[in-house]
Amino acid sequence: MPSIHQSDVKTNNNMIILSIESSCDDTACAIVCSDGTVLAEQIYSQKEHVQFGGVVPEIAARAHLSHLSDLVKKTLNQANIDWKDINAVAATCGPGLIGGVIVGSSFAKGLALARNLPFIGINHIEAHALTVRIPHISEHQVHFPYLLFLTSGGHCQCIHVKDIGDYHRLGGTIDDAAGEAFDKVAKMLGLSWPGGPALEALAKEGDENTFSLPRPLYGRPGCDFSFSGLKTAVGNLLTEYENIDTLPRKLAANIAASFQKAITSAIINRLENAIKASPNSTLLATAGGVAANQYLRKHIQELANKYNLPFVAPPMKYCTDNAVMIGWAAIEILQQAAKNNKVIDDISMLPRPRWPLSEMSQIFDS
Ligand code: KG4
Ligand code: ZN
Repeated sequence: MPSIHQSDVKTNNNMIILSIESSCDDTACAIVCSDGTVLAEQIYSQKEHVQFGGVVPEIAARAHLSHLSDLVKKTLNQANIDWKDINAVAATCGPGLIGGVIVGSSFAKGLALARNLPFIGINHIEAHALTVRIPHISEHQVHFPYLLFLTSGGHCQCIHVKDIGDYHRLGGTIDDAAGEAFDKVAKMLGLSWPGGPALEALAKEGDENTFSLPRPLYGRPGCDFSFSGLKTAVGNLLTEYENIDTLPRKLAANIAASFQKAITSAIINRLENAIKASPNSTLLATAGGVAANQYLRKHIQELANKYNLPFVAPPMKYCTDNAVMIGWAAIEILQQAAKNNKVIDDISMLPRPRWPLSEMSQIFDS
């Protein structure tokens, strides 16, 4: 199997990666250069799940299979480059819904084999963690170490990002992810899936001080999160309404606003502990779909200000699942490998539903 030319890796300007993301319900492909230029990006956010009110893993895997070939073709056409200009193929190998990860990574391996290119298997969480380092993505140049708050439908964790391959998970959710809590409460309020954006919109019509809801783990030491008690408390408020259609809109808005206030306050408390636990962090970054929530963002910004930390949130399309972050992570890993005189080709890497970040340094160990 050919390896990427080490001189290309060292110049930091000559690599072009084709990347694929398929770990949940977004089928995505991108072509990314090592200077951070995105030559092409395509994404298909699967509509197949709407009728079920949540992602159905089996349907997601089949949808990736149906859409991936056309999406890759479109990406190559958009970039208007030749295969001979591409240095490697990268794909998410985990963690995630295993069916989708198998589809995306096998497809990428097929491309790599057919084109005689190295294959780079990417950890999805590591890719989220490194997104803020894509040059020009924000007004800050992001240097290690920094603190990342990753908050999506499937993940909710604080990570101290010390270097490529060196991550310390300060804490994570012990039950639901924040996005899951937003989605479940939205469902209780009769809103359509995904519920987060709809709940935020409804909350704008409500009074956030109407109900005092629990803020799980608030004031406790550590950086873990818990949201299921809050979700249950909202459910209890709604028990007198047998049918969601009889719920007055004003009441629904007040519940939405009170829920948003409670979850934000719980998150900020845990994040404050994470900042204290990583005092050398140069900035606070965020990623994941829930980071789209303006109310939450405003409070994270205020927290960052309190600790004199710059707050970096990539543009929304790079906060949510995308293939650009997969390509960028491959570039960072290849450059790090070159520094360690290592050549990476993960063609025999197996897709993993779980893949702890603590294992990432192994690729640089001899
Ligand atoms: O990162 P993402 O697109 O996909 C994964 O879960 O991997 O995140 C989707 C999650 C959903 O739970 C969605 O409801 C939530 O992010 N979300 C929001 C908002 N926009 C998306 N939650 C709260 N407020 C929002 N504005
Ligand atoms: Zn994700």
